[in-house]
Amino acid sequence: MKREKIYQLLKELSPSDNVLIKGWLRTRRDSKNFSFLEVNDGSCLKNIQIIADSALDNYTEITSLTIGSAVCIRGSLVKSQGKGQTLEIQAQSIEIISLAPESYPLQKKRHTDEFLRTIAHLRPRTNKYGAMFRIRSELSYAIHKFFRDKAFQYIHTPIITGSDCEGAGEMFRVTTLKPDQKIKNDCRKDFFGQETNLTVSGQLSAEMFALALGDVYTFGPTFRAENSNTSRHVAEFWMVEPEMAFCDLEGDMDLAEEMTKFLTMHILDNCAEDIQLFAKFVDKKLMATLETIIAGSFLKLPYSDAIDILNKSGKKFEHEVKFGNDLQTEHERYLAEQYFKKPVIIYNYPKDIKPFYMRMNDDGITVAAMDVLVPGIGEIIGGSQREERPEVLAERMNELGQFPEDYWWYIDSRKYGTVPHSGFGLGFERMLMLLTGVKNIRDVIPFPRTPGSIEF
Ligand code: 4AD
Ligand code: MG
Repeated sequence: MKREKIYQLLKELSPSDNVLIKGWLRTRRDSKNFSFLEVNDGSCLKNIQIIADSALDNYTEITSLTIGSAVCIRGSLVKSQGKGQTLEIQAQSIEIISLAPESYPLQKKRHTDEFLRTIAHLRPRTNKYGAMFRIRSELSYAIHKFFRDKAFQYIHTPIITGSDCEGAGEMFRVTTLKPDQKIKNDCRKDFFGQETNLTVSGQLSAEMFALALGDVYTFGPTFRAENSNTSRHVAEFWMVEPEMAFCDLEGDMDLAEEMTKFLTMHILDNCAEDIQLFAKFVDKKLMATLETIIAGSFLKLPYSDAIDILNKSGKKFEHEVKFGNDLQTEHERYLAEQYFKKPVIIYNYPKDIKPFYMRMNDDGITVAAMDVLVPGIGEIIGGSQREERPEVLAERMNELGQFPEDYWWYIDSRKYGTVPHSGFGLGFERMLMLLTGVKNIRDVIPFPRTPGSIEF
């Protein structure tokens, strides 16, 4: 007999004589002739209630089952007599697969996120983190669905790379040289014969494929050795990066908006119960925030106008607001959360704070960059129209201290049938923070990697 999933049983709501489920005990309550077990198998938030009759052979063992124990139940799925559930299982047999000791840390009381981070190997067993990681899984699927429906091709861009896309030098070095090998910094003796890193973005590779296949995307892990211990940064995170040929900044912003809306709706439609948990216990304003994503259009605002608004706001910011400075989280959040109260796309940033690949605007001062800012978080997406003119590109590289020789292939791609093209990167974890109202990025990724922390 095949194991069934609780989510399926509760979705179909049809009684059946013969079901088999396997899961873990969440609670147990004994009455005179019965024991009531709440069992969860991880497939959904809801537990299923099991009625164990005292006539069962191993009833004594059943009444000493501990929280977290693993059980296999055969029985009939029947309409429930009691309140609080629609269906329950009248057990014909309950096999105890393993007993959890009383010291199991996840007893009924609620634990803090900080504590649960110290037991990240166990936290997916809680309601909240079970819900989080089901949403995470569904969101991955939604990304592929969105792009596939639009005929984008999925490209696997490399994780080990020789280039620094963002030019920020925040890369993790990859080497096979032993620490005691005294060939200090001699990359020629290393595995690849040159300096090698983990990728900070799949963009440059994705561009090569956009110029061949038209519309593409990559979705994979990226790595940044930023030494910023914030609630929005992790050293290993996932990024969704579409890249479109024959597309300018306007088209890029439109795709970013359409995708953000699609992902939000998909999760509301497919993870309603799990989202409700976050709306109830984590962020009371969650539904209202998600409504601002779906309803109405995102506001588009040039960077220089954003600077004006911030300067006229009368607010005291920690970081100085001035044309030429990058926007900080406090500025981004003020704009999206307090001023506009909805997502805002800021575009045309000063060239000096942006990487080499962004297309130079005619003013010679700004580049065709855009960031999507949302309430509660700030930036979730960063993108741009790419510089498609080889001479301008090489000039920008020189200006920013990068060596055009290192990127010969990138410049080369502009020599043959070059076209305007654009793309962006969505921080997958930031999107999850938006969808769940969770304020710390460490709590939306299975095993967070942050400065000084690599446990699990
Ligand atoms: O704005 P970023 O740096 O853009 C790029 O990497 C471009 N190459 C993308 C492209 O055009 N194809 O990063 C994109 C997004 C950010 O908006 C943010 O959501 C997320 O990636 N991000 C991080 N998320 C978690 N931890 C970090 N350390 C992150 N750094 C960036
Ligand atoms: Mg950015």
